[in-house]
Amino acid sequence: MQHKSSAPPPAEVTRQPGAHIRVAGITHQYRHAKEKALENIGFTIEPGERVALIGRSGCGKSTLLHIVAGLLKPSCGEVRIDGERVDRPSPRWIMMFQQPSLLPWLTVSGNVALGLRFTGRRSEAPFRIANLLRLVELEGLADRNVQELSGGQQQRVALARSLALEPEALLLDEPFSALDAFTRSTLQRDVRRIARELSLTLLIVTHDINEAAVMADRALIMTPHPGRIRADILLKSQTAGADNVEEARRILVEAYESAAGLTIGAEGASI
Ligand SMILES: Nc1ncnc2c1ncn2[C@@H]1O[C@H](COP(=O)(O)OP(=O)(O)O)[C@@H](O)[C@H]1O
Ligand SMILES: [Mg+2]
Repeated sequence: MQHKSSAPPPAEVTRQPGAHIRVAGITHQYRHAKEKALENIGFTIEPGERVALIGRSGCGKSTLLHIVAGLLKPSCGEVRIDGERVDRPSPRWIMMFQQPSLLPWLTVSGNVALGLRFTGRRSEAPFRIANLLRLVELEGLADRNVQELSGGQQQRVALARSLALEPEALLLDEPFSALDAFTRSTLQRDVRRIARELSLTLLIVTHDINEAAVMADRALIMTPHPGRIRADILLKSQTAGADNVEEARRILVEAYESAAGLTIGAEGASI
């Protein structure tokens, strides 16, 4: 006899092991472009690692992230996530953009539940949404219209919507650059905390030294014409207890100056 259980699915936001990302021999040239956007890019990211891809505007960061996410097919080379060749987007590796792209006619919980609805997991929504909203610190706002929220809160809704699908990797393309400095800094720390709590692999594209120092443990420094990775730097020791953001920033500035042949002033947060 089939046992019909009325027990709810687990209410916790589950921890995934974190994705292993391997990028090998990626070269990309856009159609009609005179030069390559990327040339011979290769690196590996271990499960649960938090890595910043840092470089000046135009050096190919977004192109590379789109390739890792399966949104763009490279001219040459391949990306493997957990050994599987990436040739399309997947809820297992989710990309977050500068614009939260919420549906304005839905509430906060309606937006968070969107991915679950589209992947046939609507029944899980009631049990998961409260936990997700707690995780992104939007408790009590479930029934609010998203249009009433601030930019930072909207970005938190987008984050909860991404996390609802239990991704193993979060790919972020300058996701906080449209926000004011205070909101940006809170979100940087919160996303880092969430990535750590859920053991997500984090790959964040940024041109902001401070953002990289706060969010990442390792940085890949890119230079343009064509886009290449010049240095692969450990910013924080995995075994060290508290994060030393100041030390990470110092290491990154020094590495960036030597890799890019530039001098970043004392106040130079953006490159
Ligand atoms: N769709 C496109 N078609 C042609 N060239 C592009 C396209 N997108 C980006 N590029 C070019 O590729 C290079 C890298 O761009 P991008 O990846 O956006 O850099 P970043 O994110 O580091 O600012 C730039 O020279 C840019 O002009
Ligand atoms: Mg970009």
